[in-house]
Amino acid sequence: MNEITRTAARHPFLDGKPKRMLIDGKWLEAASGKTFETTNPATGEVLARVAEGDAEDIDRAVAAARRAFTGPWSKFKPFERQALLLKLAALVEAHFDELAMLDTLDMGAPISRTRGNRLRALGMLRYYAGQAVSILGETIENSLPGEIMSFTLKEPVGVVGAIIPWNGPLTATIWKIGPALATGCTVVLKPAEEAPLTSLRLAELCQEAGVPPGVVNVVPGFGETAGAALAAHRDVDKVAFTGSHLTGQKIIQASAGNLKRVSLELGGKSPDVVFADADLDAAVPGAGMAVFANSGQICSAGTRLFVERKIYEEFSARVAAYGKSLRVGDGADPETQVGPLVSAEQLDRVTGYLAIGRQEGARPLSGGERLTEGAMAKGFFVPPTVFADVRDEMRIAQEEIFGPVISAIPFDDIEEVITRANATSFGLGSGLWTRDVSKAHKLARAIRAGSVWINCYQAMDPAVPFGGYKMSGYGRESGKQHVEEYLNVKSVWIRAD
Ligand code: NAI
Ligand code: MG
Repeated sequence: MNEITRTAARHPFLDGKPKRMLIDGKWLEAASGKTFETTNPATGEVLARVAEGDAEDIDRAVAAARRAFTGPWSKFKPFERQALLLKLAALVEAHFDELAMLDTLDMGAPISRTRGNRLRALGMLRYYAGQAVSILGETIENSLPGEIMSFTLKEPVGVVGAIIPWNGPLTATIWKIGPALATGCTVVLKPAEEAPLTSLRLAELCQEAGVPPGVVNVVPGFGETAGAALAAHRDVDKVAFTGSHLTGQKIIQASAGNLKRVSLELGGKSPDVVFADADLDAAVPGAGMAVFANSGQICSAGTRLFVERKIYEEFSARVAAYGKSLRVGDGADPETQVGPLVSAEQLDRVTGYLAIGRQEGARPLSGGERLTEGAMAKGFFVPPTVFADVRDEMRIAQEEIFGPVISAIPFDDIEEVITRANATSFGLGSGLWTRDVSKAHKLARAIRAGSVWINCYQAMDPAVPFGGYKMSGYGRESGKQHVEEYLNVKSVWIRAD
């Protein structure tokens, strides 16, 4: 056994027992008795067998969530919900390294990255703890005759179905559970089949923090079965979804049965624009990590790299050299900077796009092929790849690849690059690199996307809203807007004369 396999074997959560689902405060097998395997994408090793929920389990979980919502949980005061969130934050902090390693083992991200999520994960829980005591209605002056008063109450929307992807299980789970606990909603969370373990471990910590039975339920299973049942369920009041736009469209259709509320955080093909006047020493790693981080498996990755023509060759070559300098390997190795892709399916998708890029006439400056040397053959490794000579109409410039692949595209002037940057069906992230404040202002306004990063990329904070324009979805996560997504507004009238 080498060092890394030993790390996996030593993980306290990986005890060889099948992992059950959490419904109504009890750890249960699937009603069908079925289980599925979750594996480590760096090594192919099976980490655990996991209960495979389907429609029947979703039914049980939604019923428990409804009982909790109308029962004891509805009596919790804001202070008490705040205290629960702070207790959960303290437990997450105490177990942080263990949670980070579970993410790394289950979906491949480098341990430097998953450990680096510490501030964000804890910050989110503490931010939502603050929001729990900051829910405000309004007293509104009306113009009706006589003495009649009007005010609004903010009430939790009810039972929330949360469906998350695999690209950051710990933070994705907190991003759904946090606002639910802050507002008094209850949750049925379906983790991704590729990486369900961290959500299950976090659910244990929720119990330990004192979250009452039925308030947080976690039902692992597949999208077409458990996910679809949750999206369609008539007693679910809202679905909060993160994932692909294709599944997002299915979620909307499934929601029609009871017209439940939906918020969607979907994919992107985000532009990252580099002007010749930028601090290029900062822009090279900035633009590189805007895509190579998490092996490109980030919804807001800056995958369309627009570079001003006079520095195009030099800059693209420097980003490619930067990509080549990154250490690709097993995420459990502390030296690793780029881990494997999450699954064989994702590997096929990404290598498919590498082939398409070459066929379309793009020129690979770095990477471009799967890595299979030595132990890498067992995992799903693709190195940082930069394609030059990319044209806007190529598929690698239009479609989300979700791998460490940059499409570098030259541009000549600011008006032109605004039009071309916006010529996409998506609108999640965007970046620009310049020392010219007027260019920065102009682009910040002109880009149709939910986030604009200037001289940085991918900055995130629990207080700052994040979400999409166009086919990147609707609704915002983080910030006050996020909490509002979990609240209904009720108007109350009182005649006093
Ligand atoms: P996906 O959107 O199919 O899966 C995300 C979640 O939705 C998973 O929990 C899955 O089980 C669930 N799901 C799948 N089908 C469902 C259905 N019919 N009803 C309800 N839930 C369903 O994404 P997948 O297959 O993991 O990845 C495919 C592509 O999606 C990636 O290559 C990438 O382009 C994009 N993606 C975007 C993400 C983002 O953060 N915006 C995250 C993951 C994937
Ligand atoms: Mg896995």
